[in-house]
Amino acid sequence: MLAPMRGAAATALSELEREIDAPGGGLDRLRLVPTPFVPEVRLHLAEDAIVWWARMEAAVGHALPPPYWASAWAGGQALARHLLDHPELVAGRRVLDLAAGSGLVAIAAALAGAAQVVANDIDPYAVASVVLNARANRVAVHATGDDLLDSAGAEADLIVAGDVFYSRTMADRMLPFLQRAAAGGAEVLVGDPGRGHLPADRLTVLADYPVPTTEPSVDSSLRRVQVLRPA
Ligand SMILES: C[S@@+](CC[C@H](N)C(=O)[O-])C[C@H]1O[C@@H](n2cnc3c(N)ncnc32)[C@H](O)[C@@H]1O
Repeated sequence: MLAPMRGAAATALSELEREIDAPGGGLDRLRLVPTPFVPEVRLHLAEDAIVWWARMEAAVGHALPPPYWASAWAGGQALARHLLDHPELVAGRRVLDLAAGSGLVAIAAALAGAAQVVANDIDPYAVASVVLNARANRVAVHATGDDLLDSAGAEADLIVAGDVFYSRTMADRMLPFLQRAAAGGAEVLVGDPGRGHLPADRLTVLADYPVPTTEPSVDSSLRRVQVLRPA
């Protein structure tokens, strides 16, 4: 049996449970909605994450990390779609969803038949949202909040990471971790919409998908998103 959630993630879970149970709607609320490119998975997402963030900071009286978990990122959506459409990548395997945010990719792995799924994110609210989203989709996902990126690797057969190359600091830690894991025998898959810090020369493209985007765009409501693995 898994240990109960403790500390900051337990506090965040209580806060998010109160949020989703509170009556009413509006831009500053979370809603349980089908993910645009992965409608098999429903997630508690913010109608407007910035507005939700501002209200929560005002309510708790201190700064909170950006609620990345309250959006379905293009990279995670493509990766989740890829796993559901290729269940042979996942079936019977131990999967780690790194920088899991909402847990979308972890939930897709569980639905695709993984033997065990761990979703890791350093934001306690993301850990809490993984718990709530796994519950909403009736799958077993173990959510953890340790920072794994400086470790030697992970006990997983498949490591998935959606939209993780969004900053230089993150990219500089993420790529070496994924390369160590791959060298240690894990299969590694990344989903990325061409973010500025994607180390494209170190990765091989396996597939690409046209993912509907909710991000501001001047010319298209679709983003081409690649699924890649370390070269
Ligand atoms: C852009 S979001 C992507 C979330 C999700 N993978 C998706 O595609 O929807 C990036 C996530 O990385 C998490 N993160 C940042 N640094 C991390 C670290 N060192 N270890 C684990 N997660 C981290 C953030 O908290 C955030 O939830």
